Amino acid sequence: MASHLVTTLEVLEEAKPSVHTVEGRSIGIIKSKGEIYAVRNVCPHKRAPVCQGQLRGTMLPSAPNTFVFGMENEVLRCPWHGWEFNLTTGETICDGLSKKLTFFPVTIKDGAVYVEI
Ligand code: FES
Repeated sequence: MASHLVTTLEVLEEAKPSVHTVEGRSIGIIKSKGEIYAVRNVCPHKRAPVCQGQLRGTMLPSAPNTFVFGMENEVLRCPWHGWEFNLTTGETICDGLSKKLTFFPVTIKDGAVYVEI
């Protein structure tokens, strides 16, 4: 496994995926709520460039007739068919779907963002 410099913290915008090619792989670097994620830019559904989707929140489980919004900037929505993924776990928001996002390890050093591949 090798470490690759892909970007810096200074240029990353909150909840705006930044897509880079590392060793021939398209990887989205995503800053959300103080965390940095490196996500394989391939949707596990039909292989769309999932990091071209939007980060948003979702409605949380709640009592009937009660609407609770949460997970703001922690839900990555695929631009093709709208599948939504929990950015912190890679799992789909809907129950019963076993496909997940693929993450790469991230290291931050002196404001630089490195991805391990
Ligand atoms: S390819 Fe991503 S939801 Fe279908």
